Amino acid sequence: MTESDFTPSENYKVLTQGSVTYQSPSNIALVKYWGKHGEQLPQNPSISFTLSNCHTTTTLSYKKAASATGEIEFDVLLDGKSEPDFKPKIAKFFERIEKYIPFVKEYSYVIDTTNSFPHSSGIASSASGMSALALCLMEIERQSNPDMTPAYFLQKASFLARLGSGSACRSLDGPLVVWGNHKEISNSSDIFGTSYNGNVHDNFKNYQDTILLVDKGEKQVSSTVGHGLMHGHAFAKARFSQAHDNLSELMRVFEVGDVDAFIKLVESEALTLHAMMMTSHPYFILMKPKTLEIINEIWDYRQQTGSKVCFTLDAGANVHVLYPENEKHSVQDFIATKLSKFCQNGHYINDFVGNGAKKL
Ligand code: DP6
Repeated sequence: MTESDFTPSENYKVLTQGSVTYQSPSNIALVKYWGKHGEQLPQNPSISFTLSNCHTTTTLSYKKAASATGEIEFDVLLDGKSEPDFKPKIAKFFERIEKYIPFVKEYSYVIDTTNSFPHSSGIASSASGMSALALCLMEIERQSNPDMTPAYFLQKASFLARLGSGSACRSLDGPLVVWGNHKEISNSSDIFGTSYNGNVHDNFKNYQDTILLVDKGEKQVSSTVGHGLMHGHAFAKARFSQAHDNLSELMRVFEVGDVDAFIKLVESEALTLHAMMMTSHPYFILMKPKTLEIINEIWDYRQQTGSKVCFTLDAGANVHVLYPENEKHSVQDFIATKLSKFCQNGHYINDFVGNGAKKL
């Protein structure tokens, strides 16, 4: 598949008005996407677990616009209240998708969105939000083209979501989604995410993720600025090639169920992501003292108990605690007694791996 497969040739039936609702989950990368080029193309392949409890629900209401030539008119509501801060990213998204969804200019929109997690939790809502919005737009396209296959629907929705936010293209499907060409993954692509098609050992089924909210503030570095820091970065080449190798190793890990190797790889990926930020120009430290305290507690606990718990990080201070389902009770007890005190207002979210977005 190439970009041109998503350029429609058919005529669209323009509807007077309507509305559509999708719920899309967040995702957590195991091999990280950090660095992009061209129009939202990744510098390396990444893979993520799709989550369940952390999700965005978006209702897209559309109405035939008076004229289809000017700027696209839209309002964004978060929890029923106007949220102008979201507008620039969505305006950019509309601009990027115009050549793939020509009817986009025929309507004005109200994008009514709610997150299952608190807005100021430091959890990025762009992945789940852009995924839900892309799915809503594809639903409008499907009305003109009811024969489109479910596979095409999903691929194009992921393709569009990527143009809104890279990691969003991994938030439609589950339980594991790959984005970015990898020589050993036949259906992998730079332009959309695909459900991982390799064997996955039972050890990795229903994996648990508890998100410790260490810092609920605004992101210190926007992801676009962050990705930009990889241009001309002294270690960029080595990092991009390492991501390919790590994904190959992860395929082996999934196949044989090697949880110890999983831990090493996932924690190293998280620390490498932060190491890239610490060694870029300008440089950033996005971990907080409490992030480090949590990491040390996890390492101590693992050593003392033989637990298979591990951590990963996004581009921020929050910690994702990953563990197998059979340790759910013991690890959640450990989190409540030893880790919750490092969270802002003791706040954390228990989540687990899920199967992707759904239409409501
Ligand atoms: C650290 O997808 O938020 O979470 O494409 O600029 O919207 P944009 O970036 P974004 O980057 C996410 C980076 C990450 C790692 C990952 O999810 O793979």
